[in-house]
Amino acid sequence: MKSIVILISGRGSNMVSLADAAANGSLPVRVASVLSSRPDAAGLAAAAARGIPARVVDHRRHADREAFDAALARAIDDCSPDLVVLAGFMRILSDGFVARYAGRLLNIHPSLLPAFPGLHTHRRALEAGVRLHGCTVHFVTPALDHGPIVIQAAVPVIDGDDKERLAARVLAQEHRIYRQAVRWFVEGRLAIVGGRVVLDMEQDGASGLISPRAVERR
Ligand code: GRF
Repeated sequence: MKSIVILISGRGSNMVSLADAAANGSLPVRVASVLSSRPDAAGLAAAAARGIPARVVDHRRHADREAFDAALARAIDDCSPDLVVLAGFMRILSDGFVARYAGRLLNIHPSLLPAFPGLHTHRRALEAGVRLHGCTVHFVTPALDHGPIVIQAAVPVIDGDDKERLAARVLAQEHRIYRQAVRWFVEGRLAIVGGRVVLDMEQDGASGLISPRAVERR
């Protein structure tokens, strides 16, 4: 079975969603380790409660980004994962780190990229008055919140929404599409062609490659 390492910095709800799907057999992966950039991340306890090896690679204990990224890479490589999953990981990664895991490094971002890269996406979406908001899973490239898009989910912005209500609506979709993206990856169905992600449909009895659909198969 393919294995993943999940990188977190905080609450860890995306990590929990993936770990619980792996544990109940609905997602065919082994979560080899959870790594946190912060010692106070709530997700560490959630990982421990599930019996998942969890480690802190504290960014404040490293002199610079390169030293932190090197320590992080050592912790990841100890597990030899097939895929590295960023799930609320709040550090900007060096170009060298991104290159090391090129094609096997996924991130989730709480907006419909390329709209609203960076922080405070829900507040900015409300301020902009968009009627649709959402989330994106993408392969990581050196540019922040940029890279070939695997899957997106859209949610309506409803009159009277505040950023907490909107965030909760988006988060439910984050959990759904991240499970789907990881499933596609470990099934070997994703390829990057010309900077865009294509999904191999042969396992669905179809031939050829099409753009991923926002549909969970199981
Ligand atoms: C999510 O909204 C994710 O998209 C963003 O940070 C948040 C992390 O939430 N990058 P959690 O730690 O997975 O609960």
